[in-house]
Amino acid sequence: MKNDPTDDILEKDKHLIHSFADLDSLKDPASRTVIAEANGAYVYNAVGDRFIDGMAGLWCVNVGHGRKEIIDAISQQLSTLDYFSTFYNLTHPLAAELASKITSLAPAHINHVYFSNSGSVANDTAVRILHHYYNRLGQNQKKLILSRIGAYHGSTHLAIAMTTPGYRKGWDSADDLVRFLSSPQPYRRPDNMSSEEFCDFLIDELVRDIEKIGAERIACFIAEPIMGAGGVIVPPEGYHQRVEQVCRQYEIKTISDEVVTAFGRLGHMFASEAVFGLTPDVITTAKGLSSGYQPIAATLVSDEIHEVISKEGEQFMHGMTYSGHPACCAAALANIELMESESLLQQVQHNGPKFMQTMQSLSALNIVGDVRGSHFMVGIEFVQNLDTKQAFDEDVKIGMRVSLKAQERGLMIRPLGHMIVLSPPLILTLEQITEIGDVLKQSIEAVQAELVTEGLV
Ligand SMILES: Cc1ncc(COP(=O)(O)O)c(C=O)c1O
Repeated sequence: MKNDPTDDILEKDKHLIHSFADLDSLKDPASRTVIAEANGAYVYNAVGDRFIDGMAGLWCVNVGHGRKEIIDAISQQLSTLDYFSTFYNLTHPLAAELASKITSLAPAHINHVYFSNSGSVANDTAVRILHHYYNRLGQNQKKLILSRIGAYHGSTHLAIAMTTPGYRKGWDSADDLVRFLSSPQPYRRPDNMSSEEFCDFLIDELVRDIEKIGAERIACFIAEPIMGAGGVIVPPEGYHQRVEQVCRQYEIKTISDEVVTAFGRLGHMFASEAVFGLTPDVITTAKGLSSGYQPIAATLVSDEIHEVISKEGEQFMHGMTYSGHPACCAAALANIELMESESLLQQVQHNGPKFMQTMQSLSALNIVGDVRGSHFMVGIEFVQNLDTKQAFDEDVKIGMRVSLKAQERGLMIRPLGHMIVLSPPLILTLEQITEIGDVLKQSIEAVQAELVTEGLV
């Protein structure tokens, strides 16, 4: 019989502080899951049980696990140049190569990039750059950031302040820099509003808030094209373009947080322009940039911003030791090369709608209120009553229950309160898509049956 290392791993794991976790409940080792190996669209626990990775790690392993091309590129780079910095006047071949490559894939007005190692820091960097940009223009009052309820922009002090308040119960944040607008969540819009009226309402609110605060105090508006961790929210048709128009009119910069949506998840390298017709001033990205093989993120800025911040006189006073780390750049370049050589974008454009369609077929189930998303980014919201959209009580832990049932059936998905979220590797085959659909159907039906017994539906 194979030796089971799980207990030993979990004993050592008690020293690890887990992210976004109920640390008290994790004191019970049985509540923790070990993932020890991965390959393609699959991950394995410590005894070799196989699961489809319905989360691509954490919205990131876009090209799938265990890709030799990326692993070799990292290893080769480490033996050529393990580390050197991009501080001051220094550079190295792969930082230059990746900067050139990534800006060639971005919208035409964006030709400059700053590298960091997480989406949170990419977003902090975006705001720091914009504050500096306005300082240089003598507009020192322009500091405030407009964000939205439901947004997730990261977990550093500034990024969490831009993230929906629900993410920081009991924790402090730099609240005075941020103002929140309503979530553009069509499923939860007021009953008497059409989608068009809802969009009008959101834009009216934006204009009203800008007028109230004063545009001279607002630096930027930050938004994910499709909100991810906030519940896979696809805003009403035309919303992003109208927001951009208003921001232009009031001279407010726009940051498109493409930490999740870039590098193929919606079928394009960047979704802002290709999917939503936007020309943001700044785009941030991470995750799919290296498919998670190395921690690398990027803040891309427009030529106009770069022109201002690179004028003679002051310095770019922002830096991280591992900005443009050679091994991270190697991973990102090899990842992009794989995406291109395997025509992954075209594959997503073809298979993404099929994934969405398979997920949408789950709408027929009694507790499924809404299935939303696009391509390989899907959220399923459960409700106690389809007509009233009444949510389950928090203690029912509906998302967690469905996700545990799916895990028993060989599928890893992310529970998110009263939802489950899927963002699998983009290399899924049609057979794997069908399998995910079947497993989810059985899992939701199994939970439904329990809820009937418990008198909850
Ligand atoms: C849209 C978005 N922005 C920013 C972040 C933060 O990225 P990181 O966890 O790499 O700091 C995330 C992480 O999930 C995200 O989904």
